[in-house]
Amino acid sequence: MKVLLVGGGGREHAIGEALVRGGAELYVVSKHKNPGLARLAKGYGLAKETDIEKVLEYAEKFGVELAFIGPEAPLEKGIVDTLEENGIPTVGPSREAAKLETDKAFARAFMERNEIPGRKVFRVFTDVSEMRSWVDDFGRPVVVKPIGLTGGKGVKVVGYQLRDNEEAKAYAEELIRRDGRVLIEERTDGVEFTLQVFSDGKRILPMPLVQDYPHAYENDEGPITGGMGSYSCSNGLLPFVMREDYEKALETLKATVEAMRKEGTPYKGILYGQFMLSKDGPVLIEYNARFGDPEAINVLPLLRTSLLEIAEGIVDGNLQRAEFESKATVVKYLAPKGYPTNPVRGVKVEVDEKAVEEVGARLYYASIDENFTLLGSRAIAVVGIAETLEEAERIAQGAIPHIKGELFYRRDVGTRESVEKRIGLMKEFGKEFEPNPC
Ligand code: GLY
Repeated sequence: MKVLLVGGGGREHAIGEALVRGGAELYVVSKHKNPGLARLAKGYGLAKETDIEKVLEYAEKFGVELAFIGPEAPLEKGIVDTLEENGIPTVGPSREAAKLETDKAFARAFMERNEIPGRKVFRVFTDVSEMRSWVDDFGRPVVVKPIGLTGGKGVKVVGYQLRDNEEAKAYAEELIRRDGRVLIEERTDGVEFTLQVFSDGKRILPMPLVQDYPHAYENDEGPITGGMGSYSCSNGLLPFVMREDYEKALETLKATVEAMRKEGTPYKGILYGQFMLSKDGPVLIEYNARFGDPEAINVLPLLRTSLLEIAEGIVDGNLQRAEFESKATVVKYLAPKGYPTNPVRGVKVEVDEKAVEEVGARLYYASIDENFTLLGSRAIAVVGIAETLEEAERIAQGAIPHIKGELFYRRDVGTRESVEKRIGLMKEFGKEFEPNPC
């Protein structure tokens, strides 16, 4: 079957590889030519992913029978609606359903009216003085969020990016003046984790849990990025996420899909839940309407079921199974020096693919062109897959010396020490537990 993949990052390289492994004939449209996808694809169109008319033109030219959308920006523009109106079944939510990610005020109000578990106290403000007096009355630390897509960079939390509620009010005021609205939520203390599921609009099938490392620098310091790496464990849980926490998080996503269907905006595609595990259980931090990047690169290489079969199940409303190998994974992203604030661009990197293969690691290309020139965002992901986290981390780390250029990465992603730190934090937050093996 001919399948069009939209997007050209590391996440899409992993999706494309899994589609081809599952029997698809792959076609790609993205704004740059990803060297990994270029090798897998029968046809490649260059266009901005949000240029929906152009994407449709390519889809028709290639004669694809199915499309798969990688990133969120084209979902917000209604790419799924357009492709489907033109007879191309598409994996991804409609513009309305994608609001779970693209409109944070919608997402919180939706959770509230449907009593979805894992809710938070929140308010949306358009008026500066109302906002200021609510924050004063609330008294506890808050999180300030822009309503729309920000590439993960606009959210600010008291105690982290904001010193106190005074700074929170000033930032919220800035957002009201800029966007007309702002979302303010209570801060939840805990440790974050990701649960991704496939959804056909009625039924969901879960993937292994993943933990992302969003900070640019080691020891969780520096600016927030798209994610500098991530790990997953062979049992599908995380060392600090117990089976009952996982079940609760899954219940949140199940209730979400059920309520979306009841409200007449069925959600089909990938639903990503970013959770904060508090001492009282998982709280939903935000929904994403697509695979995570790098989280897709953890789970898709483990997928035993054909991704093409899953994609057909999603669009037909007939999802049957999604089975994963029981292995641990560690993904480390190499990003251009200066990323995310002032990245090096336009210089070449050298990749010894054979040596990377010899250490047993896999490579996924992202913001890098066919000539291996850096384009300014995360460039290359290396992945280790093994029985244990330690071994997976060792394999991923072994690949790093074979990639040379103006790049940096986080040595601590998936190391015992960093996992122990997260276990320690969870205990400090008051959760009593015996860590799961990983
Ligand atoms: N890694 C976080 C995201 O994909 O949004």
